Amino acid sequence: MSGLPKVELHLHLEGAAPPAFIAGLAQEKHLDIAGIFDADGNYRYKDFWDFLKVYEAATSALQSPRDYQRLVSAVLEQSAASGVVYCETFLSPDFCGGRDLGAWREYLHAIREAADAAERDMGVTLRGIITCIRHFGPDKARETARCAADTAGEWIVGFGIAGDEKVGAPKDYRWAFDCAREAGLRLTAHAGEWGGPESVRDAVRDLEVERIGHGVRAIEDLALVDELAERGIVLEVCPGSNVALGLYPTFRDHPIAELDRRGVKVTISTDDPPFFHTTMAREYEELHKAFDWDDGQFRKIARQSLDAAFCDADTKAKIA
Ligand code: ADE
Ligand code: ZN
Repeated sequence: MSGLPKVELHLHLEGAAPPAFIAGLAQEKHLDIAGIFDADGNYRYKDFWDFLKVYEAATSALQSPRDYQRLVSAVLEQSAASGVVYCETFLSPDFCGGRDLGAWREYLHAIREAADAAERDMGVTLRGIITCIRHFGPDKARETARCAADTAGEWIVGFGIAGDEKVGAPKDYRWAFDCAREAGLRLTAHAGEWGGPESVRDAVRDLEVERIGHGVRAIEDLALVDELAERGIVLEVCPGSNVALGLYPTFRDHPIAELDRRGVKVTISTDDPPFFHTTMAREYEELHKAFDWDDGQFRKIARQSLDAAFCDADTKAKIA
């Protein structure tokens, strides 16, 4: 099953940066971020909130469009090695040019060049979802949404929110989501990872998203699970991330199989793969071991994922 064609809908571009790649950039730029690595050169963090700090420190080594171009090539090489044929990645104008529109366009141009080359050379198609960062606050989210609206199109296909789910409430970000929706972008929000079922309800009601990043804690409220199933709201589930961050002790304890059994459209992603020592191939293997999922089940999920992808129908037809 690890050889099956895979569709990944939830991947943070900076979070997919191999630690050696970030260490190399830091050395080139004489940046001292050695504290984010352990003795083996892996990222080191204590919990989710520390992870966010380490993520931002690692991202500080990415300082130019050229750095992002190299990052995209490195990340898609790994995706292709796992059998990923289509991937949507979260991009943050916060990190790419500080939400300045002119700078953001230059970063995006470089990112697309690397993505086009990877499609040609490795057969993996990438699309972008602009994401605001919840703990950076609603004002910055508005600026991010303006960048998103300006570059919405065939390649930038969605808008979302990541970061600390415990900060503020989805309704604080409504203006940003309305702006993105009016520009034709499809919507997703991280919820139900560190917040409970009410956090998922709030995101669905106040931001009118069609996908939820994680969303797994919906399982704590079966009426909500039924509602997600009935409304066809898709969960971008990242089991290895949830296990690595301590949300569930093992893959066997993860609710993905029960959500699937109850009719929720689940998909499989890696979130921030090197941080969580995972790959798409590993996610498949662990889910096979934990739930005895077979090729048929994985094919169903890959189809479900492509259906839920934000790209246009022509792109989907080429991949299917
Ligand atoms: N940004 C990167 N990974 C994230 C996660 N798992 N939750 C929220 N924000 C993130
Ligand atoms: Zn995420």
